[in-house]
Amino acid sequence: MAKIKSKYVCQNCGYESAGYLGKCPECSSWSSFVEEVNNLQPQISKELLKDDNPPKSLSQIETNTEIRLKTSISEFDRVLGGGIVKGSLVLIAGDPGIGKSTILLQTSGKLCDSNKKVLYVSAEESAGQIKLRAERLGIKSENLYIYPQTNFELIKKHIEEMQPDLVIIDSIQAIYTSNIQSSAGSVSQIRECCNSLMNVAKTNDISIIVIGHVTKEGNIAGPKVLEHMVDTVIQFEGDKYKTYRLMRSIKNRFGNTSEVGIFEMCSTGLREVLNPSELFLKEYNQTQTPGSTIIVTSEGTRPLLVEIQALVGTTPYPTPRRVANGVDVSRVLQILAVLEKRIGLNLSKQDVYVNVIGGIDVSEPAADLGIALAIITCVRDVIFDSHTAIIGEIGLSGEIRAVNHIDKRINEAKKLGFKRVIIPASNEIQEEFEGIEILKVSRIIEAITRAVSK
Ligand code: TYD
Ligand code: MG
Repeated sequence: MAKIKSKYVCQNCGYESAGYLGKCPECSSWSSFVEEVNNLQPQISKELLKDDNPPKSLSQIETNTEIRLKTSISEFDRVLGGGIVKGSLVLIAGDPGIGKSTILLQTSGKLCDSNKKVLYVSAEESAGQIKLRAERLGIKSENLYIYPQTNFELIKKHIEEMQPDLVIIDSIQAIYTSNIQSSAGSVSQIRECCNSLMNVAKTNDISIIVIGHVTKEGNIAGPKVLEHMVDTVIQFEGDKYKTYRLMRSIKNRFGNTSEVGIFEMCSTGLREVLNPSELFLKEYNQTQTPGSTIIVTSEGTRPLLVEIQALVGTTPYPTPRRVANGVDVSRVLQILAVLEKRIGLNLSKQDVYVNVIGGIDVSEPAADLGIALAIITCVRDVIFDSHTAIIGEIGLSGEIRAVNHIDKRINEAKKLGFKRVIIPASNEIQEEFEGIEILKVSRIIEAITRAVSK
């Protein structure tokens, strides 16, 4: 008989040891060793060598156009890249309570209305609870099958028997396979279940959406292992205290990853927000004070108008405070440094607060000029023209730098009734714009004199 030898390998760095170790001496990670069995006389079967699928040149490969299942929720379809590709495995990840089950139940309802068969596997809630939620969401379709089950083998059996168009697994952390001893939710269970689901999806040509909870550190539980296995990863995020939710694709084998879908949570479930800028500017005109400006940021390829507020006041502390909500504080510090050096605005004895209204995060530099003008209007105590939107990144020498998607941004401002837009002089505009004045600025001082002239 062949001698079987086993070794323990760190799954993090690849360090090998003859026995199990709790901590890796190489990379110091804990509980990362897994036993690997080596068969010293590997047997290559004749069958395997009879390879009937040799390498082909690109031109020999036939393509069949991907078939997509439209969810009829346009924001969801947009993030998926035009619908769920048949036979693909999609992961939807997000904090508990964000609305993952809700959106997928709504999606199931819509698909069933268009005569598709959906199997909703609920490993967390009972059938009665799902029924109650479905009633609240106004879903009553005969094509929607609810299956409360946590055992993977049973789930697989029913998928293969039923052959639905879409399967939803709520959630991957709650199901287990009998092949592995460890409890549901452990990394090895998650990995095994996900792999097997991928197999089921590909062999039966059925689309499967799995829900994954996010851990405290913000990882998709099971140290990101899931992300590598699935075709598409969609992150569902938002502020628990606000009603809107952002859906973002962070990996997509069948579409681009810059698209964002926006929803609002209301009493009848998640509602699509088709003009998000209106949502974020809802209170803008009523509460105009010095220190408030409107910027056009870009979420993926989608322009979004948001309000920036700044507050500057004398500090009671030896070191002044710099507080930023919704923008990076180091970005604000950099803008303050540029303002001090290039236009002589000294705020070393002032506290500075910068806030993005609506709880959204603006991480791109195109917001710089809007933040700078909000700070300046607050210091000078003037009200910024409420019909002007601002776009531009500020460089360290005080120059205004070009940003991407400029035409889309200008269009969005125009659509929402803005009369003027301040943009970087170096940006080339492709389209002709009528009904909106375009002010091109190349330096911060120029932006101030043109925009904040009393
Ligand atoms: P849920 O989909 O259960 O979250 P997840 O599956 O991501 O854990 O959503 C739970 C929250 O959504 C809950 O706090 C209540 C809220 N909600 C509404 O506000 N309106 C609704 O119609 C529904 C169904 C849920
Ligand atoms: Mg849920």
